[in-house]
Amino acid sequence: MDLITKAPRGTQDMLPEVAHKWQHIEQTALAIAADFGYREMRTPVFEHTELFHRSVGETTDVVQKEMYTFTDRGDRSVTLRPEGTAGAARAVLESGLYAGTLPVKVSYVTSCYRYEKPQAGRLREFHQFGVECFGAAAPTADAEAISLAHTLLAQLGVTGVTLYINSIGCPTCRAKYHEALKAYFTDRQDELCGTCRDRLERNPMRILDCKSPICHEIGAAAPVILDFLCDECAEHFEAVKACLNAADIPFEVDPHIVRGLDYYTRTVFEFVSDALGAQAVVCGGGRYDGLIEELGGPHLPSLGFAMGLERLLMIMDAKGCSFPAPPACELYLAPMGAAAARECFAIAAKLRAGGVAVQTDVVGRGLKAQMKYADKIGAKQVIVVGDNELETKQAKLKDMDAGTETDIALDDSMYTTLYQRSLDRQLGAMSDLFRSVAE
Ligand code: HAM
Repeated sequence: MDLITKAPRGTQDMLPEVAHKWQHIEQTALAIAADFGYREMRTPVFEHTELFHRSVGETTDVVQKEMYTFTDRGDRSVTLRPEGTAGAARAVLESGLYAGTLPVKVSYVTSCYRYEKPQAGRLREFHQFGVECFGAAAPTADAEAISLAHTLLAQLGVTGVTLYINSIGCPTCRAKYHEALKAYFTDRQDELCGTCRDRLERNPMRILDCKSPICHEIGAAAPVILDFLCDECAEHFEAVKACLNAADIPFEVDPHIVRGLDYYTRTVFEFVSDALGAQAVVCGGGRYDGLIEELGGPHLPSLGFAMGLERLLMIMDAKGCSFPAPPACELYLAPMGAAAARECFAIAAKLRAGGVAVQTDVVGRGLKAQMKYADKIGAKQVIVVGDNELETKQAKLKDMDAGTETDIALDDSMYTTLYQRSLDRQLGAMSDLFRSVAE
């Protein structure tokens, strides 16, 4: 197909039929985050390339193989964000927010870009809901972030998701672990992919999340970091688990989770769905106590997570989760003739100002075609306005579901009636949604 009529590989249009589902997920996510004290932030879609090298890490798949990096017209290397944490950390550092009240808790809904091989649940442009908490060293912060993701999944009605947690220690425990990994992988280095042979010297832990099946298989029997934790890291991990147990948040310890980004320290976690096939991780996160310092700031223990929204939506569809109905047209005003069209236009503007979803003719259709259109868009009510109605200031309000008609005066009382009906309808829809979530 012609290039200009085809979206780039690995991207998706969000058509109106699904956009309301996205709105529901995003609004729910941001509202729950707000309950946990996270305030929304937005950062640029591109950053200086160096930011991702320093934070995500030189030896990660993301930096080595997947970034959309280009030189701009000012000869600077910039990169479309492959994830949200680096930009959030940079913004907190640049704005000086970290010098105020701690912790700084931010949330975001953002597009991300990774040049990966597209498949179901893996895109080149995808979206994340994420939270980052800067300046919180206690294990309760780790458990709180996990609890936020858990609450969101529960509130959206998502089932079949398992939480896996691990600790990947601090630079102290990691030094000993790296030695053990090096010894293990050196014995089998001829079987590793070229990238991993290079990683063996520079960052052997990265071999553990290589996407090559051979490296993955070799990595499965490698030593695990949990056996190398220092006392402080072990204690921290135990305290996180105790908090999760106290809050009845089920989890399993998976010593093989290392995550694909270099900034992590101590707690790491992933929520894995049984409905996604190969790309089963819907949410991943962890602690990154050294990141802010790495970027030139003070020592600021921090943590967060991000949830892939395309994957989340796939799960919700697969599990038959409920969504609020897309906004309906509450009233269609069908004018007959130019004078009526003007009057309907004015009435519609006034009703919309009061929060009523109103449409009227913008095509110049006859009455029959307008009624067909009103039916197609699912208009709840219709008022036909012709010369007679204009003269008598009286019209019929047709309830499209019930098929009944009532008299309505085309004066101020009409606005009161229609505002009230609109409000009743919205309250009804909200209580239906609450009921379906509670079920
Ligand atoms: P991540 O594991 O790279 O972590 O991505 C988080 C989530 O984004 C994944 O679990 C997945 O649901 C989704 N995702 C990742 N890549 C793709 C893709 N190509 N297509 C569709 N969905 C994808 C991070 O990005 C970290 N910044 C998370 C974090 C925040 N850690 C601490 N704070």
